[in-house]
Amino acid sequence: MCGIVGYIGKNQALPILLEGLKKLEYRGYDSSGIAIIGPEGLTTEKSVGKLANLEQKLPSRTITGTIGIGHTRWATHGRPSDANAHPHLSPNGRFAVVHNGIVENYLQIKEHYLAGHTFCSETDTEVIAHLLEKFYDGDFEDAVRQMLQVVRGAFALVMICLEEPDKIIACRKDSPMVLGVGDGENFIASDVPALLSHTRQCIYVEKDEICLLTAEKIIIKDQNGNIIDKTVHTIAWDAESAEKDGYDDFMLKEIYEQPQAFRKVLSGRIEQGKVAFSEFELTENELAKWRKIYIVACGTAYHAGLVGKMIFEKLAHIPTEVEVASEFRYREPMLNEETLVLVISQSGETADTVAALREAKAHGAKVIAITNVLGSAIARESDYTLYLWAGPEISVASTKAYTTMLIAEYLLGAYFAQIKGTITNERLAEILHALAQLPEKAQQLLSNDFIQQINTIAEGYQKVHNLFFIGRGLDWAIVLEGALKLKEISYIHAEAYAAGELKHGTLALITDETPVIALCVQESTYEKTISNIKEVKARDAQVLIVTSENHQQEAAQISDAQLLLPLADNFIAPILSVIPLQLIAYYTAKIRGCNIDQPRNLAKSVTVE
Ligand code: M6R
Repeated sequence: MCGIVGYIGKNQALPILLEGLKKLEYRGYDSSGIAIIGPEGLTTEKSVGKLANLEQKLPSRTITGTIGIGHTRWATHGRPSDANAHPHLSPNGRFAVVHNGIVENYLQIKEHYLAGHTFCSETDTEVIAHLLEKFYDGDFEDAVRQMLQVVRGAFALVMICLEEPDKIIACRKDSPMVLGVGDGENFIASDVPALLSHTRQCIYVEKDEICLLTAEKIIIKDQNGNIIDKTVHTIAWDAESAEKDGYDDFMLKEIYEQPQAFRKVLSGRIEQGKVAFSEFELTENELAKWRKIYIVACGTAYHAGLVGKMIFEKLAHIPTEVEVASEFRYREPMLNEETLVLVISQSGETADTVAALREAKAHGAKVIAITNVLGSAIARESDYTLYLWAGPEISVASTKAYTTMLIAEYLLGAYFAQIKGTITNERLAEILHALAQLPEKAQQLLSNDFIQQINTIAEGYQKVHNLFFIGRGLDWAIVLEGALKLKEISYIHAEAYAAGELKHGTLALITDETPVIALCVQESTYEKTISNIKEVKARDAQVLIVTSENHQQEAAQISDAQLLLPLADNFIAPILSVIPLQLIAYYTAKIRGCNIDQPRNLAKSVTVE
C-alpha cells in the first residue's frame, strides 16, 4: 500500500527512482511522483494515474541530481490527483516527503501546530513537510526527531532537505521499509524488488528506527539517538524472479510458477516419513496445552484459513475457528495461554492481521505465522514462523501464495498430528506421499490442452454480469477463493455458495443468464453436489463442472462443460482444484481487457486498517 523509494550516490537519481517505482507499482498505482535535489535546487514532478503518466510528463530535459525520493500511491486521504500525489513539500519548498501509511492525528496537528498554514493537498502527509520546516533550526535530523514526537499513526517516511543535500532521512513506525547497501550509493524501498537490480545486500528497518543515508554510509539510530548495529542480509532472490519473464502478466507467471513453489514449500520438510521444520520444533507438552486454534487472516489468506480449519480439526483434533482479521480484534475473542493463533499473510504486513496478532499476544496466546516475506512484521512478531518460500508475488491477485499457504497448513496439521498421535503412520504416509506428488500434478493442469479448454470457457463468460460458484466442504472453501479471483480481476460479480444452501433463498437468482461453476471433487459430498447441480440446471443455468477425471462420464451428462482434474488424494485435492479457477479468472479478465496485475481500487499489501 504505497511504494516509496530513495536514492543517494554517484549516479543520476531519476532513472533509478523510476525503475524502483516500476517495481513497486503493485503497491499502489493511482498517482506517483519524484523529488530530486540537483543544480536547480529541489525539483518535483507528480502525476495522477499510472507511473507511465508521470514518465510522459517528465520534461525532455531530465531532472539532474544524485539524491532523490519517489512514491507510488494508493489513496487513503484525498482522492487520486496531481495535488494529492507525493512527494509533498514544505511551504518554503526546502523539504520533500514521501509517506506510506496514515498520520492519524493530522487534523489536530493542523490545528495545534500549523494554524494559519495553507495546504496544497487533502492528504494527511503534507503536515509532515510543514512540521519539518517549522522545527528546522539548521539540523535536519533534529527536525525529524521533533516531528516524530508530534505525529501518531502507522507509517514509513523518507525525507530530503535542500539545506543538507548530502543525506536522506528515513524512519518507520509499522509500515515496511528496507535499505539497499551499495558501493558509493545507497537505496531505500518499501520492498525488496525495487532494490534487486542494484544490490542484494539489505537492511530491514525496524519500528521506531531512524536511518541516515549518505552516499558512503548508512547510520541507524534508535529513538534516543543511540547508533544501532544492524545485520546486513543477502537477498536470496535474483532480479529475474521479480520480472515478468516473457509472460503477459505477473499473475500468469505466478500461476505457472506453482509447481516450482510447491517443491520449495515442501523442500526439507518431509524427512523419513515425518514432517520437520527447520524454523521451530514443538513439544508434546506445548501442543497438549492448545485447546483451540484461531486462524486469523484477510482475503485470500482467510480463504486458506477455511481449508486450515478442516485440516487441524481432522488431523490434530483441535477445534478451530477462522476469522477475518478486521473483525477478530474488535469482538474480544476468548484468548488465553490455551489458545493458538495462526496468522496467515503473504506479505506479512497486512495491518489488520498485524493488529490481530498483537491482540492475541497481549492475551497470552501463542502465535504461529505462515508468511512469504522474510523479516516482515508478522514474521518478526510471531512466536514461530513458517515461511512459504514461494518467491516474490507481485500481482495483486494472490495465486501461488494461496496454494503454498494450503501446503504449509497440511504440513503443520500433519506435524501436530504426528506429535499428538492423532494420525496413524499409514495415513501420515499417504498424506505426505500425496503432497510430494503435487508439483507434477499441478504441471499437468498447465498443459496447452488444458489452457485451451479454459480459454474456450473464458470466452463464454466475457459478457456475463453475475456468476455463481458452488461446492461443499473443502470444495466450498475453494470456490470462495475462485469467486474472489474472478471478482478482483475481471470485475464480474461472482458469489460462492455452499451448494446445499442455494435452495434456502439464493436459487431465486439463478436464470439462463447466471452461469454456475460447480466444484465437485470431494467424494464424500459428490452425490449431494450432483443433486444441487441438477437443481440449478432445472432453472436453466449454464453449468461448468470441475471434477476429477474418474467422473468424466456423469459430468458430461449433466453439465454444459467440464474440466477434469487428475486423480489425487481427496483430502489434498483442494490445492489442485483451485488452479483451474485461477486460470478461469485470469483468461476471463484478459478477454475483457482488464488490467490484471493492477485491478482498480486495490493494492497488493494493505497496510492500513
Ligand atoms: O498479504 P496478505 O496475505 O495478508 O493479504 C491479504 C489480502 O489483502 C489478499 O489476500 C487479497 O485478498 C488478495 N488481493 C486476493 O487476491
